[in-house]
Amino acid sequence: MRKARIARILTGDEVGARFTVEGWVRTKRESKGGFSFIEVNDGSCLRNLQVVAEKGLPYYQEEVLKLQTGSSVRISGTVAASPAKGQQVELRAESVEVLGRSDPDAYPLQKKRHSFEFLRTIAHLRPRTNTFGAVARVRNALSFAVHKFFQERGFIYVHTPIITGSDCEGAGAMFRVTSLDLDSVPLAEGRVDFSRDFFGGPANLTVSGQLEAEVYALALRDVYTFGPTFRAENSNTPRHLAEFWMVEPEMAFCALDGNVELATDFLKYLFSYVLYYCREDMDFFRRFIDPSCVERLENIIAAEFERLTYTDAVRILSESKESFEFPVEWGVDIQSEHERYLCERVFQRPVVLTDYPKVIKPFYMKVNRDGRTVRAMDVLVPKIGEIIGGSQREDDYDTLLERMNESGINPDAYWWYLELRKFGSAPHSGFGLGFERLVQFVSGMSNIRDVIPFPRTPGNVSF
Ligand code: 4AD
Ligand code: MG
Repeated sequence: MRKARIARILTGDEVGARFTVEGWVRTKRESKGGFSFIEVNDGSCLRNLQVVAEKGLPYYQEEVLKLQTGSSVRISGTVAASPAKGQQVELRAESVEVLGRSDPDAYPLQKKRHSFEFLRTIAHLRPRTNTFGAVARVRNALSFAVHKFFQERGFIYVHTPIITGSDCEGAGAMFRVTSLDLDSVPLAEGRVDFSRDFFGGPANLTVSGQLEAEVYALALRDVYTFGPTFRAENSNTPRHLAEFWMVEPEMAFCALDGNVELATDFLKYLFSYVLYYCREDMDFFRRFIDPSCVERLENIIAAEFERLTYTDAVRILSESKESFEFPVEWGVDIQSEHERYLCERVFQRPVVLTDYPKVIKPFYMKVNRDGRTVRAMDVLVPKIGEIIGGSQREDDYDTLLERMNESGINPDAYWWYLELRKFGSAPHSGFGLGFERLVQFVSGMSNIRDVIPFPRTPGNVSF
């Protein structure tokens, strides 16, 4: 018999057809009339398939009656219109085979709702819940949409390295990569001798693929990278991970305005895509996670993003009557409470903040004529705050060199990056979208640890 994913059967277009399905039992109950109703889910969609098994089936006593929540099954039968309310079709079983049993007393997933904190401790089983199945499907759809958006616009996908010798953000919060024996590290003049390490020098996990993406943009014009990035900062917040995925487009012959435009089009495209292709899962999030998540996306698709400078934002924030935990002052980085205040209270829509003071931004951002601000661009959204960070890049050799020295970055280590400004330099811009923050924003999930399959955070590397 042909195999089918449950999503296909539940379209309702297959009535009368015979199929084999495979999946995991969510629940089972016996009716007085000598039937069993088995709810099976295979992750292909949110809904379960209801299977009707009659007591006349082969092995009914031995197999069907002993079926428990969590067991894996292979069931063949005929798709039939369902007399029951709330579902179009069901599968009338002709054979039921248990592939893997599951002890109901030991199985941690019970019918009741579990807290997300508890589910994090069973990350190997949580994808079998409605919420984590929906998150996985939405994450998948958004990844595909990222590629679709850029491919439709002629961007080239570049694989930037995970292991790197440079520090893009210059913040120093990097994970070291080494094959040295940490119990007896080679020393030279009292310090670790990295010349004897695997790469012949210190190496780290990348915090961003940007610097390498710039190399390719200055050859292929429009490129993007989409991969894992790592930050060793000790941030225990619902919006920070030590390992997260970032989408980073980079465009040559493009200034800040073009960058803002791309970021806006990109977000609207992703939101439209997910509303269209993940209707059932988005409806689930609306009903059980965040009642306004669908409406919020619809509003943003229709809205103009507010654009203002950092200086204007600081003025608005300091004139507001709000008491913030962190005081606002020109030259100090704004915090997520300020970002959220601007989006949620002042403008009620996404805000693109530009032209930050250079002292709070990395060395690579293009310095404005005022000499004090840089062509930075952060996109802020309600609930999350910063979802995108980017800028026009410094394309002038001397200014870049000066900014490196000011920022305490050793120009020798970035000779290749500087050289791009010597040979055919061009205005160019790009940004980074935090992929988990995107999934969080779309689904309304409140903790970033619940939108990545296996979260890595300070003190936690289980699974
Ligand atoms: O603002 P960030 O640090 O920018 C960069 O890394 C640039 N090099 C990107 C570029 O211009 N190509 O990070 C970009 C985005 C943030 O806006 C945020 O959404 C996300 O990455 N992000 C994090 N997401 C989860 N956990 C963390 N610890 C994150 N740090 C940044
Ligand atoms: Mg940032």
